[in-house]
Amino acid sequence: MSGAPASDSVDGKPVLVFDSGIGGLSVLAAIRALLPEQRLVYVADDAAFPYGNWKEGELSAHIVALMGELIAAHDPAAVVIACNTASTLVLPPLRAKFDIPFVGTVPAVKPAAEQTKSGVIAVLGTPATIARDYTRQLIASFAQSARVALVAAPTLASIAEGSRRGEDFDREAIRAEIAPCFVEIDGKRTDIVVLGCTHYPFLITEMDAVAPWPVTWLDPAPAIARRLSGLLEGKIMGRGESIALFTSGRPAPRALVSVLESNGLRAV
Ligand code: DGL
Repeated sequence: MSGAPASDSVDGKPVLVFDSGIGGLSVLAAIRALLPEQRLVYVADDAAFPYGNWKEGELSAHIVALMGELIAAHDPAAVVIACNTASTLVLPPLRAKFDIPFVGTVPAVKPAAEQTKSGVIAVLGTPATIARDYTRQLIASFAQSARVALVAAPTLASIAEGSRRGEDFDREAIRAEIAPCFVEIDGKRTDIVVLGCTHYPFLITEMDAVAPWPVTWLDPAPAIARRLSGLLEGKIMGRGESIALFTSGRPAPRALVSVLESNGLRAV
């Protein structure tokens, strides 16, 4: 893993924003909008991407060990797990082991159930997130009054990851992955699709283009940013240059460097 260079230009503690790849940048952008001066350390565990294919026990052990290294290296004021596949699994062991606040990202089932007009919603996520007990419990607790299509998308996160790295992608593959979200029950159609993976907001334009009818794509990022800001009581914990780290140590392609720069991050 490439480490962060020591810098004289930093003061106070950063907030660490963590994902398996570039998906967490959708959450980071919302944090920036709310706390523009807060120093951020973005960590993409791209050596282990995609998390959606990992076995639960192995993924949990991997993230807890990696988080130990990251906390030791960066001493963050708080950590945002900007990944549903990780949050629906490892928040309890992380909170048990480390004495700093963790903010998780989980599918926005409750707001979708509250906002739906048709009573039919879909939850779109990685196969791992869709299979998690946590996700099933969210639905049982908060969406009893709605009809819920649970849709596992095997390659959508990888398509989003590739698109931000400047790779071409196939619209038909996107159409096929989101198609099961669109259901009609007793004349009522899906009107909200919960984006249960932080990579998906990057594909909203493409998903809109192939959707059989218009829906609201529910992105939890603004709510995560508000939760973080509430936890920090709106305070700036540290200032200075924000950086992005990639656990693979591979240099970021040009397209990705531009995406990072537009988010105020320098790749190290
Ligand atoms: N961005 C991650 C999420 O929110 C998942 C991508 C992956 O499979 O690693 O679930």
